[in-house]
Formats: sequence, C-alpha cells, structure tokens
Amino acid sequence: MGLLRLDKYLADAGRGTRSEVKLLIKYGRVRIGDRVVKRPEEKVDADKDSVFVDGQPVCYSEFEYYMLNKPAGVVSAVTDKRDKTVVQLIDTEKRRDLFPVGRLDKDTEGLVIITNDGKLANEMLSPKKHVEKNYYAIVRGTVTDDVILRFREGLDIGDDRITKPAELKLTAPLICEGAAGDLDNEAMTGDICHVEITITEGRFHQIKRMFQAVGMEVVYLKRLSMGGITLDETLPCGSWRRLSEEELELLMPG
Ligand code: URA
Repeated sequence: MGLLRLDKYLADAGRGTRSEVKLLIKYGRVRIGDRVVKRPEEKVDADKDSVFVDGQPVCYSEFEYYMLNKPAGVVSAVTDKRDKTVVQLIDTEKRRDLFPVGRLDKDTEGLVIITNDGKLANEMLSPKKHVEKNYYAIVRGTVTDDVILRFREGLDIGDDRITKPAELKLTAPLICEGAAGDLDNEAMTGDICHVEITITEGRFHQIKRMFQAVGMEVVYLKRLSMGGITLDETLPCGSWRRLSEEELELLMPG
C-alpha cells in the first residue's frame, strides 16, 4: 500500500472528511505509533505504521468488500437525492469511496457486493467475462418447457441483439422476509410460478424484460448469487457483512 498522507489515510479509513480529520490532527488526537502528529501531510506507511485516534487503533485497508442483502425501496447507488442508497446501509466506519458492483432495480432484493475495488468491479461487470448472476423470482404466468427453451435460446427484449442464453427452472417457494412476504393475496393467487434464473449479462431491467417478452410478469425478484458469491442466508434483509477470506478467494482466484 505504501506511503500515504495522514489526513488521506484517516479519511479513507472512515474517520471523517478530509477537513474533519485535519481538525482531529490539529487538536493532537492522532498518534502514529507513540508519537502525536500535528501535521496532516505527515506520511504514514500503511503496511507498517499503527495509527491511533483518541488512543483507539485505526483499521485501514486499501480495499474493502461487503455483501449486502438489499431490501426493496433502496437504490443501487452511492448517493441519491430522494432515496436511501445501498452504500448508506453500510452503517459502520467505512471507506468513503465505496460503490455497488452493478445495479439492482429499486424493487429488487438480495445480494449486492459493495467495494472500492474498481478493477474487480470492471471484471465482474465486463460482458466478456460472462459472470453468472442467479435470481429467484415469482412470476405471473405459466413457465412451460417452451418458455424455458426460449430463455435458453435468447430473447428479443427490444435491444439491438437478443439476450445470451439464460437458464430458467421452476423451484420451490423461497421463504422471504422481504417484500415477497408482503405480497398481497391478489399478487399471489392465480397463475403464479416460482423460478430460478441464471443470466450472464446485466442489461437494464433484464429479467423483467425477458419475462415480458414471453408474455409474463415478474412480481418479485431477488438476487441469490453473483460470480461465485452466494447471499448469506443468515443475513437479514437490509443487513450486511464483510466478505470472508474464502469469498475473496472465489472472487479473485490466484
Ligand atoms: N433484472 C431485472 O429486471 N432487475 C434487476 O434488478 C436485476 C435483473
């Protein structure tokens, strides 16, 4: 990680904005090792130095990786004028440069990976990498063998090219504590199917548009996995945790 200015180091570590951390430094509340440092431009060796604010150690890492179980009603963005964002749900001391890897619609729930690692995000989102994303959906209409075949062959959803092959299969109803639990009787009666679908692209409203293309409608959508990372079933809707070492290995083999 190398040498960093003390004020950048503290701001990156989530201790406040650049001007807020400058004040901490000015008031003598920051130590590098056992030395109180009062100059924000002082260099910190991020690999070796221990830094303390008010005697408490500062945890610094160049990259951070979180999984969030996104609830409906929250937008996949860093900031938003109107709505709460997925990054705002990470309610801990955190780096200020975090962003979600890809987007889920506001009404979609489930797995969102949040990081500040731009290289990883590009790899996961690159159309050339064919990263698999797996979703659970409740759809209105009947999923026949023909529908499954059409998803596999690719669908015209109004873009310049048809969708890449998608795997669709019927599944058991998932017990959801999120919006699916609130679906009213009307939405859940009649011709309803529970499905799992795997896609390798990330087009705008892709799954909703694929079902529309076969005359069906998505009533509920939840992402279950992305690129080898599976949503932790013990993570309540709206909660987050850091990715484990094993999960990071899956994301970045080698
Ligand atoms: N497809 C959609 O239609 N919406 C999402 O949020 C994700 C995939």
